[in-house]
This record gives sequence, structure tokens and C-alpha cells, in this order.
Amino acid sequence: MKLLVTGGAGFIGSNFILYWLKNHPNDTIINFDKLTYAGNLENLKTIEKNSNYKFIQGDICDATKVDNVVKESDTIVHFAAESHVDRSITDPSEFVRTNVLGTNVLLESALKYKIKRFHHISTDEVFGSLSLEEKSKFDERTNYNPRSPYSASKAGSDHLVRAYYHTFGLPISISNCSNNFGPYQFPEKVIPLAITNLLEGKKVPVYGDGLYVRDWLYVEDHCKAIDLILEKGKIGETYCIGGLTEDINNLELIKKIIKLLGKSEDSIDFVKDRLGHDRRYAVDWSKIKNDLGWKPEGNFDELLEKTVNWYKQNKDWWEKVKNGDYKKYYINQYGSNL
Ligand code: NAD
Ligand code: DAU
Repeated sequence: MKLLVTGGAGFIGSNFILYWLKNHPNDTIINFDKLTYAGNLENLKTIEKNSNYKFIQGDICDATKVDNVVKESDTIVHFAAESHVDRSITDPSEFVRTNVLGTNVLLESALKYKIKRFHHISTDEVFGSLSLEEKSKFDERTNYNPRSPYSASKAGSDHLVRAYYHTFGLPISISNCSNNFGPYQFPEKVIPLAITNLLEGKKVPVYGDGLYVRDWLYVEDHCKAIDLILEKGKIGETYCIGGLTEDINNLELIKKIIKLLGKSEDSIDFVKDRLGHDRRYAVDWSKIKNDLGWKPEGNFDELLEKTVNWYKQNKDWWEKVKNGDYKKYYINQYGSNL
């Protein structure tokens, strides 16, 4: 395969490239990434000299640059996005630009150069919010009901991808995945934020009552699911990918991390809630299990410990990331006392 990976310098994209080159050493990869605050080529240091790998810096909204990389590829795996809900509340427009318009530029180019497969990486957040009382889950038939500028922009991109399939016959597939965790995740997201704050002796900001629920999935399991979809998934189909946890709320999650690091629960700081905060996400992943034989591997507590250990052992990586612009973001988001 001649893969074009967009957003390959981000958290999931870089884990995917490392996974792919290990498991498909004969394939070639172009990593096309704008290197926003979230893109970090350090994640790919171990493979940067691999002759099957090439990095090109560029914006997915730039049609000329996009054409130049698309014409060298046969398969696109599209990760590039603005991905943080809190930032979408502060500045929605960048989310519409990259996630909606950028996806449209890529789709046009994919049509022009007759790409064999356009796989779009999306999120379970497009389905909205579940309540704590009901036990229902999201699946491929759930209606879209996005509630943040981030999820609305991802929903917009999903609709465009499907429209290019139905209208123009572009060979697409889509996956909607739950919350990922693992190495190289930018410390604005709650798990790496909590781990690195605790390692720095700081408190952990918990939004609202802390009873919000996410469906945590180890990032390598997500990469395996994408691999199976590219190999055996049907053109035009959507696959929901979900996690290992059965309704662990944020407070329980943070307490687990505190325990793993031998810290005190006094480190928890309840702060003002996120606007429009979705209460609960849960994904029913039976379709990908039954059709493609995927399931998440391992045990959540063990993988959380593995992740905590990665951040303990890779202080250089996150200390650099937490410098510079991150400091401005942090004070703007949490105030200067936290
Ligand atoms: P991330 O923020 O860590 O990385 C995004 C990457 O995209 C960065 O390298 C950034 O430089 C790049 N990028 C941003 N704008 C760009 C542009 N205009 N042109 C080119 N590159 C650009 O994100 P992530 O957490 O790795 O998420 C990757 C994808 O997976 C996103 O589409 C996200 O919506 C989706 N997703 C994420 C999760 C999760 O838990 N993190 C879960 C489900 C789906
Ligand atoms: O569900 C998939 C989505 O998961 C992806 O599409 C997004 O790209 C990804 O960012 C993630 O979105 P969330 O908003 O669920 O992730 P985040 O880590 O920001 O927050 C997880 C939960 O923790 C959520 O309930 C908000 C809460 N939280 C978050 C932060 C940053 C806190 O309590 N305190 C915090 O400081």
C-alpha cells in the first residue's frame, strides 16, 4: 500500500505510523501534517530515517500541497483535525476550517487522483450525550446529535465523506472511536494532564461533579481496528470502535492515577464545568467484532499503569511540550493558581 496519513505527527496518527511500519514493513507512508501545537515529530524519531517513510509539512486546506501528496498515494487515512473540545469552545472557527473545509479539500483530491480507499477517522462524540441512568450505547445506527463545536465539525466532516461516497462513488470507510489513551498524547487531554500534573506536584482539575463517563480505549487497539478496516472492511461502511471500561467516571479514573503515582486524593481540584459537557459516552462495538473479528485487548488497569509508566519514563517529551504556548493555554483554561 502507498499510504497517505494526514495528522501523522499527532497522538493517534503517530502511534498509527509506528504501528503500521512495524506490521507492514513493505508499505510506504507519507505523513502530511501542518505541525500545529499538537503535532510533534519527536513522536516519530525512531522511524524518521526509514526509507519507506516521508514527512511533508502542509495544511489539509491547501489544495495544491494536498494534490502533490495525494497523487503519490493509493490509500488515505485521515486523522488531521483540531481535536480538543475545550479549545473548540474558546475558538470554534479553526475547527470548522480544518475539520470541515480541510476534509473537503482532501475528498476532492482523492476523487481527482482515483484513490482506492479514503478512511476517515471520526469520533463517538458525533452521537451526542448519554445519561447516567440509561444503559444504552452508541452504535452505527445512532442518530447524529453533536453538542460541541468540535463534535459538530467532526459530524460535518463525516457527512461530507458519506456524501462523496453516495454522490461520486468515492471508496470511503469511516470509524467512530471512543476516547483513546496511551503514549504521546498531548497533555491537554485528561489522562496525560492528570499524570503530568501529579508528576510536577500540581493538582488535577476535575470539571463539575466529576461524574462524567468516557469509554477508554488503548491507542494501539484503535490502530489494530483501522488496520482490519483497511484490510477487510466494506467500502461505504461505518464502524464504531469502543473501549475497555464499563462506566468508569472521571473521578474514579483520576483516583486510579493518583494511586498509581502514590499521591494523595487532596490533589483533586474541582473546577468550573466545561460548557455543554456531554455526560456519558459508551460504544457498542459488536459490528466490528462480528464482521472483522476486532476487540480491545488487555485490561484497563494494566494499560493505564503502562501509560502512567510511559509518562514517568519520558519526562523530556512532555516537559518540552508543556513549555511555551502550552503555558498560555493552561492559564487561560484553568487560571494561574492551579
Ligand atoms: P491530535 O490533536 O493529537 O493531532 C492532530 C494532528 O493533526 C496534529 O499533528 C496536527 O498538527 C495535525 N493537524 C491539525 N490541523 C491540521 C491541518 N489543517 N492540516 C494538517 N494537519 C493538521 O489529535 P488525535 O487525538 O491524535 O486525534 C486524531 C484524530 O482522531 C482526529 O480526527 C480526532 O477527531 C480523532 N479521534 C480522536 C480521539 C481521541 O481520543 N484522541 C478519539 C476518537 C477520534
Ligand atoms: O470520545 C472521543 C473524544 O475523546 C475525541 O473525539 C476527542 O478528540 C478527545 O479529545 C476526547 O474528548 P473528551 O472531551 O472526552 O476528552 P478530554 O480528555 O478533554 O476529557 C475527558 C473527560 O475529562 C471529559 O469528561 C472532561 C473531563 N476533564 C477534562 C479535562 C481536560 C476534566 O474533568 N478536567 C480536565 O482538565
